Amino acid sequence: MRLRHRNGEWRHLEASSTDMLEHPVIAGIVVNARDVTERIEQDRRLRFQADLLAQINDTVVVLDAEYRVRYWNDGAVRLFGVNVDDALGRYLGEIYTYRILPPEDDATVTDAISSQGFWRGEAEITIADGRMIVGELSVRAMRDEEGIFSGYLGVIRDNTARRRAEDRLRLMEAVVVHATDAVVVTDAGQLDVPGPRICYVNAAFCRLTGYSADEIIGRSPRILQGADTSVEARATIRQALNEHQPVQVELVNYSREGRPYWIELSIAPVPDAQGAVCYFIAIERDISARKAAERLERDRSSILELISADRPLPRF
Ligand SMILES: Cc1cc2nc3c(=O)[nH]c(=O)nc-3n(C[C@H](O)[C@H](O)[C@H](O)COP(=O)(O)O)c2cc1C
Repeated sequence: MRLRHRNGEWRHLEASSTDMLEHPVIAGIVVNARDVTERIEQDRRLRFQADLLAQINDTVVVLDAEYRVRYWNDGAVRLFGVNVDDALGRYLGEIYTYRILPPEDDATVTDAISSQGFWRGEAEITIADGRMIVGELSVRAMRDEEGIFSGYLGVIRDNTARRRAEDRLRLMEAVVVHATDAVVVTDAGQLDVPGPRICYVNAAFCRLTGYSADEIIGRSPRILQGADTSVEARATIRQALNEHQPVQVELVNYSREGRPYWIELSIAPVPDAQGAVCYFIAIERDISARKAAERLERDRSSILELISADRPLPRF
């Protein structure tokens, strides 16, 4: 029942009526009413907060002082694959266990919570079904109205995908850094001079060319070309880059000191998640030894040809 107060506010009443018409003295209907406005407001606030917690993507878990689950939001259902009814009242350790990253004593968490009231960090979480995830954990001590410790509020953000991507990136970086072939990355913004501009070279590139990374980053790979660099090979590269196609050519380059060498150059566009090409990556292999052997073979064949044709040998 709702009544309007004299001050204009609506108040909620819980009322019950008793028929006392037959009563010799009262002879009427007795209505008992209690103002429950505060309780209803509080219920509404709690429902609103619960809805809010259910909406958020992060996992929210409330535990009592004995680590029994008291609240379990939709994020927790999704992450741990355990329904609210199955989770409530269970000890947390039956649902998942965690290990702090980097490995530290569990006391770190409890010490931080008792001294500062909260702990935040990364942890490896092992779920009862065997899955393992990496999460950012934030644990806060909860207190009741009297200020007495009543349990923990934990918020977990699943970082597994980000962690895996970072690990993969680190691995790929290690592969590129330690590769024996030269690796060059340029931006794809401008292909005309002064572009494409180099934004990454590995150690093998520096060994091959004699340039340090600091000297070459920001410049164009054309700096490596010279008199004997094939014009046709350059045109082939140019066309492929314009069309965002991979290309492979063999051509002569020059080191910082002017030493010519042959490279097999493979360039590929690097599309981003939307498919836009922002970078090119090149892998370059020094094939000077193979080229020298091929030349020797060609010279040997022409000498044999001359001998078999019984013609006088040319003078070298
Ligand atoms: C990632 C990347 C790496 C390259 N590395 C070399 C290289 O090591 N040596 C070279 O002669 N050209 C290299 N090029 C090609 C030149 O930068 C340039 O694109 C090519 O000469 C065609 O342009 P042009 O017709 O203006 O000369 C590379 C290009 C890209 C995109």
